[in-house]
Amino acid sequence: MKNEILRALRETDSYVSGQELCRKLGVSRTAVWKNIRSLQEDGYEIEAVTNRGYRLAGVPDTIAEEEVASRLQTERMGRQIRYFSRIDSTNQYAKRIAEEGAPDGTLIIADEQTAGKGRSGRTWVTPPAEAIAFTLLLRPKLSPDRISMVTLVMGLAVTNAVNSLYDVSAGIKWPNDVVIKGRKLCGILTEMSAEVRQVNYIVIGVGINANLTSFPEEIREIATSLRLELGCDINRAELIARVMTEFERLYAEFEAQGDLSAVMQEYNELCLNAGSKVRVLDPNGEYTGTSRGINSMGELLVETEDGQIQEVYAGEVSVRGIYGYV
Ligand code: BTN
Repeated sequence: MKNEILRALRETDSYVSGQELCRKLGVSRTAVWKNIRSLQEDGYEIEAVTNRGYRLAGVPDTIAEEEVASRLQTERMGRQIRYFSRIDSTNQYAKRIAEEGAPDGTLIIADEQTAGKGRSGRTWVTPPAEAIAFTLLLRPKLSPDRISMVTLVMGLAVTNAVNSLYDVSAGIKWPNDVVIKGRKLCGILTEMSAEVRQVNYIVIGVGINANLTSFPEEIREIATSLRLELGCDINRAELIARVMTEFERLYAEFEAQGDLSAVMQEYNELCLNAGSKVRVLDPNGEYTGTSRGINSMGELLVETEDGQIQEVYAGEVSVRGIYGYV
């Protein structure tokens, strides 16, 4: 119920009467009051004025369930939220509850991860109160060979969300790193449980360097945060909710087509590799070429010097810029 109270208070800058809240939520005045008290204990500044009602005067810096849920505008993504102030890894937890039958669209959020997982066995740093770490659990009706494309869809969703909320210019380093001024802002790790022809579930883990001010030595040169780029803290809950909105739209288009044809153009406009020279770290031999963006399967098209187009599949190889990370 705290979600709905917050949502109602957010709809106006002015006061909402107790009576109006009772009517909207279908509960008693006592129930409303108890929940308002509980929100105040959680750090929400809610003014209560006789004959006028309640007004939201300040919100705590939190990504707890009520704060995110009361901002969500989605039908499917994040309709169930599980929040942890501290957890090993939201991806690990998502896989555990997926095995127990948690529904499609469940969103797991953590304020701190003690064993955040990155790609290729690396760790992902998620310090408390600064970072964004969440995992979305989906049960797609797609064959397993389509799943790598979902990661590109999430990369595009995060990039769109960041560019629409803040005065920055984020782009995508294929396949799914979100980058600002050549430095990595966000990483995505998708894991899947599948049979030969059928996917049981996927978990899409997203780590965004929201309000971090420093990084471990080994990534200092290649990482950035929104706080470092903007010079001020961002509202993490607002960003999570916007990512969900963007992802829901893009994923619906992807699911309807079964490939990226409907979102390919949008992706390529933000793809930092498109049109630039890249080095393809193929296990069968490294080569260079000019990237031409992705095709509808999410493969990176690389034109080699002899004019041939190579289709680079995300799972197999890495791509680097000629002069650095992008
Ligand atoms: C990468 O290496 O670029 C991918 C990083 C993915 C990190 C996120 S944070 C939320 C989710 N939980 C994890 O343990 N990892 C992902």
